[in-house]
Amino acid sequence: MKPRRKAVPGMRSRRTPTVRRIRPAITPVPPTSRPATRPAGAAAPPASGQAGPRGPEPALDVLGGRPVRLAVDLGRGLVLTNPVIAASGGCGFGVEVAELVDLPRLGAIVTRGVAVKPAGGQPAPRTADVPAGLLIGVGPQHPGLQQVVDRYAGTWARWPVPVIVNLGGASAGDLAEGARMLDDVAGVAAVEVNLSSGGGARVFGLDAASTSSAIAAVRRATDLPVIAKLTAAAGDLRAVAKAAEEAGADAISAINTLPGLAVSADRGGAALGSTYGGICGPALKPVALRVVYEVVQAVDIPVIGIGGVATVDDVLDFLALGAVAVGVGVAALADPMLPVRLADALADACRERGLEDVAALVGTALPARPGPASTRGAEYAR
Ligand SMILES: Cc1cc2nc3c(=O)[nH]c(=O)nc-3n(C[C@H](O)[C@H](O)[C@H](O)COP(=O)(O)O)c2cc1C
Repeated sequence: MKPRRKAVPGMRSRRTPTVRRIRPAITPVPPTSRPATRPAGAAAPPASGQAGPRGPEPALDVLGGRPVRLAVDLGRGLVLTNPVIAASGGCGFGVEVAELVDLPRLGAIVTRGVAVKPAGGQPAPRTADVPAGLLIGVGPQHPGLQQVVDRYAGTWARWPVPVIVNLGGASAGDLAEGARMLDDVAGVAAVEVNLSSGGGARVFGLDAASTSSAIAAVRRATDLPVIAKLTAAAGDLRAVAKAAEEAGADAISAINTLPGLAVSADRGGAALGSTYGGICGPALKPVALRVVYEVVQAVDIPVIGIGGVATVDDVLDFLALGAVAVGVGVAALADPMLPVRLADALADACRERGLEDVAALVGTALPARPGPASTRGAEYAR
């Protein structure tokens, strides 16, 4: 599914696609004429990783009446049955919400961030309420990538939903090592590279050169689909996104939280133990929309919009600006079933508009000609 209208001519990728391999947890693209899906209550399809490519999938949503095609192709064989993803941090490693959520009805699950070396997270307090969102200072907290794989990958391989591992690292070498460890692990459908990670002052996603070295290192280390997760803290997002594409990313996700700060109640210091935190929730949405708008005009790979998604209108906004899928972060923490309900609501939105394929909603708000890049202080520029 591509944005209906593309802008920025002459910015096409020159990357030669490498070998494509269908991962165990991935659904083959069903033809539009495919018989529809498992009705509610029917037996689950064969578990991925056990029986090879799965049987008929709910790429056509029939639960609400007339069938609607919701499938999304994120490249390199990663096909989601619908465009609503549980973003990193919203549902831990998936096992935490498995009892609460109808997993087959999620587009995908992205795990919380992991890296090769274990990490203990940030000191408390770790969250602060801010108007229209949450400031989080959780930081990386995990037992190390090998432990995560040993503990959870067997479970993921049995789930009828793609599990995407969110990978961070202090260096490109770290990322490569992590990607190598995930390569060929049954149950891991893709790697999302957290470009907000990095060593010391060098956050990968802040510039095109660091982004390129991070993504290229991961690309060389694995045949898994690679998703580059951007940070809006970068100056020139178009250049960063382009660098990720040319270094071998199959898709882009945008955006991560934005750095922020809140003052403690007694005004004796910062509200968070980590001083700085990441702003997420509704406050982030206009920033994320801006980034999606700019990035889809700069790259030819699919873009996943993340930031403040909590209603079907949020989903429709991101799709209209050219995102082919959305991620739900902090809103899924409070309500793990939300992404599933949003997928249902999206199917209903298609029906209400007489659309048979969600792709028709993608890119409708893009300009016919390339829009200008946003720049700092753009609201004052004339
Ligand atoms: C509690 C929490 C933990 C998160 N952990 C990660 C992480 O480990 N890696 C990452 O790339 N993004 C992480 N994120 C960022 C989200 O995936 C998402 O990009 C961001 O929160 C914006 O989306 P939202 O407004 O829907 O929350 C985290 C978000 C939250 C709320």
